[in-house]
Amino acid sequence: MSDYKELTPGQVVKELDKFIIGQDGAKKSVAIALRNRWRRLRVEDELRDEIMPNNIIMIGPTGVGKTEIARRLARLTRAPFVKVEATKFTEVGYVGRDVESMIRDLVEFSVNMVKAEQFEAVQEPARNNANERLLDLLVPLENQRSDQAILMNEEGLAEFSAEEPGKKNTRDKFRDMLLSGKLENREVEVDVPADSGPMMQIFSPMGMDEMGANLQDMLGNMLPKKTKKRKLKISEAREFLMQEEASKLIDSESVHREAIDRVENSGIVFLDEIDKVAARSDHGGPDVSREGVQRDLLPVVEGTNVSTKYGTVRTDHVLFIASGAFHVSKPSDLIPELQGRFPIRVELVNLTADDFVRILKEPENALIKQYTAMLKTDGVQLEFEDEAIIEIAEIAWRVNESMENIGARRLHTVLSSLLEDILFDVPDKRVGHVKITKDLVQTTLEEILKDEDLGRYVL
Ligand SMILES: Nc1ncnc2c1ncn2[C@@H]1O[C@H](COP(=O)(O)OP(=O)(O)OP(=O)(O)O)[C@@H](O)[C@H]1O
Ligand SMILES: [Mg+2]
Repeated sequence: MSDYKELTPGQVVKELDKFIIGQDGAKKSVAIALRNRWRRLRVEDELRDEIMPNNIIMIGPTGVGKTEIARRLARLTRAPFVKVEATKFTEVGYVGRDVESMIRDLVEFSVNMVKAEQFEAVQEPARNNANERLLDLLVPLENQRSDQAILMNEEGLAEFSAEEPGKKNTRDKFRDMLLSGKLENREVEVDVPADSGPMMQIFSPMGMDEMGANLQDMLGNMLPKKTKKRKLKISEAREFLMQEEASKLIDSESVHREAIDRVENSGIVFLDEIDKVAARSDHGGPDVSREGVQRDLLPVVEGTNVSTKYGTVRTDHVLFIASGAFHVSKPSDLIPELQGRFPIRVELVNLTADDFVRILKEPENALIKQYTAMLKTDGVQLEFEDEAIIEIAEIAWRVNESMENIGARRLHTVLSSLLEDILFDVPDKRVGHVKITKDLVQTTLEEILKDEDLGRYVL
């Protein structure tokens, strides 16, 4: 089984707390669901099949952390993660993608993730191999054998050096120079893949995604790989050759196996806008397609085999987190079978002005930390008075009330309006220390707020 991190529910919540303010109920639910999957996988076979998966429906207004919780959860457990809009499958004239495609996307994500990890793991040998190939280019083979090797001196002029027994041969001398970094700016000619010309794309009929992809791969492999010679600096050439060498060192079979294993045991699918396919029948109209989407989703959520180009994937243990505002419809408007597959409901609450203050300051990726770090690169120290932060939060909250409630997303728009002039003036007109006071917040933002049309436009 894959070595994804097995965190206890308490640890999961603690990690989520570093990024998401409040929403304790939702954090707790996802933490339990995650652990329950892990527990379920360890229960003996017969009983395991009886245990329902812990799929979740998150209900809550826009911009309060639904997606963020799921995304962070995936990241901290190193789980393959995809986010799909359920409405995507109802689009009129929608061609080529079926519901199972989300599992294929998940596998694709997983393959890239495993590949990246394995690339990382073979950096060292790949670098060595790349250096040897650079030596092949620097010291052509015939010269290595001859008694008189041509050695390029620093000016690039040929020097002749007789090889004496017991002394380092030319290749070794070059290796020393190469490893000590003396040759980094020297140019060599490397074979690089030529642009493959106009990409051939294969359009496949609906539901035949996979076939299209396979066909494309096949054709890609059949066509001869064109290369062309390019002059590159040693430093660039090494990067390029390392990629090639790393690919050779990685066994793609095992990457694919590991990737599928991770999807099956730790994959997370975030199904957004599930409320939009939960239309009630008394609405009339095009509900057939919405119910159709729910019916299509059912087997995938329930557990089925999905064939992908990397192999077959069982979806039994994939964790599904559905999410929606459910303003118009309710979870009970979903078809009963689907409701049954999402036994856990959790409501996210509207954020308060106090939450906004904390969101501005506390998360590891807090907006204030981001802007401070950015201006620091320009040599400016940005400082926010506590009073100013409270004022920003309150203004954001008020704008949400009076215009449209977009949750914590409002903080982005408010802060970028507030800081616009400063971001423009640094470093030409402002340097050193910039302090954001309550006064400054009020004068900058109240102006915008007063002019309602402008406020609507800017905030
Ligand atoms: N509780 C929170 N703590 C910290 N940041 C938050 C919180 N809620 C929202 N945010 C911030 O707001 C942004 C939007 O939140 P998110 O994407 O989770 O919204 P959502 O609930 O999924 O909304 P929607 O229904 O529109 O998809 C996040 O990227 C994050 O920066
Ligand atoms: Mg969202």
